[in-house]
Amino acid sequence: MIRLNRREFLKSTGVFMIGSTLPINLVKVAYGAQSPAEDFTFAYISDAHIQHLGGGKFVRNWDRGLIRAVQEANLLSPRPDFFLFGGDLAQLGTKEEIDHGLEIMSKLRGQVRYVMGEHDYYLDLGEYWESKLGPQYYSFDHKGVHFIVLNSILTHHDWTFNRWPTPMDRMRAMARLDNPEGSPFLVGEKQRAWLKKDLEKVNKNVPIIVCSHSPLQKIYKGWNFWTDDAEKVVALLKPFKKVTVLYGHVHQIQYNQIENISFHAVMATAWPWPYPQSYTQARNNLPALTVPMNRADPFFERDATGWQFINWKTGHVDMHYQLPNNLDRTVAFNRKIGQPEDTKYQDSQKRIPPQKHF
Ligand SMILES: [Fe+2]
Ligand SMILES: [Fe+2]
Repeated sequence: MIRLNRREFLKSTGVFMIGSTLPINLVKVAYGAQSPAEDFTFAYISDAHIQHLGGGKFVRNWDRGLIRAVQEANLLSPRPDFFLFGGDLAQLGTKEEIDHGLEIMSKLRGQVRYVMGEHDYYLDLGEYWESKLGPQYYSFDHKGVHFIVLNSILTHHDWTFNRWPTPMDRMRAMARLDNPEGSPFLVGEKQRAWLKKDLEKVNKNVPIIVCSHSPLQKIYKGWNFWTDDAEKVVALLKPFKKVTVLYGHVHQIQYNQIENISFHAVMATAWPWPYPQSYTQARNNLPALTVPMNRADPFFERDATGWQFINWKTGHVDMHYQLPNNLDRTVAFNRKIGQPEDTKYQDSQKRIPPQKHF
């Protein structure tokens, strides 16, 4: 079980940085002494949004976020068994952006598996990404855990194929946060049929980790923090005892418990989004237990990005978020209430209230 704070962690890697952030997420899967399965860790990097400006130029700040994550991930000790990239490698899905992002990622020492983000997909419907990285959804087993990677950012056929003068018009429409011309994300029927089949061979006691890009829950439709067929996906996972869904896309800390499934968002390397509840004009379904980070400082571009250790000692995840220039926090499964909660800041009296946006 990992109990390192940031300073101890950096000491153990042989470096020491004051006020540093590590925009990566280290996941530890621990079974306890009785289990025949082996403990292991993996690390999670997400939402780099590499953006091409023309010629050889890319948005420097987004490059730096990913470069930093890769450099620091290479210092992790113990070495993670593998890495996951949580989607939105590119901003507008171009070859230049994907190539440039993969060039940065190629410096990572270890195997990387990728999740498809909407920013990677809607220019050529994932064709170039797939040619470089393989299938858009797949599963694999690692030391007793069944991992499932989904492409959760598909949408309706008509929106995808019949509406846009050019692929880039489609890409730009889906790339917006405030998304009036967008379309709700879907895992879709074909992939759900594949998932059903994939799960048939898995014992109900085997821990399952699902990696999606959008949350497999409905948080806020206006920003597509939303997967339209989430309930149908969740229903397929219901017979399993220990299920965790890890997702990117929202660029912020979120956590939730829906029946047998714990949900945890991972942070972005590019920028943080505000909590949709601060967008006062519109209703949202932000998970009731989520504790807003004490708000991001707009003058410090790395605030509210960060990294986390994740323990899985009991089959439930403990997330240890390390936030630069902000208060670290731990979100752990509370057996009494049967869901995750912030161990320190769940009480709204202990937080700085979120900013309101008008
Ligand atoms: Fe993103
Ligand atoms: Fe996204």
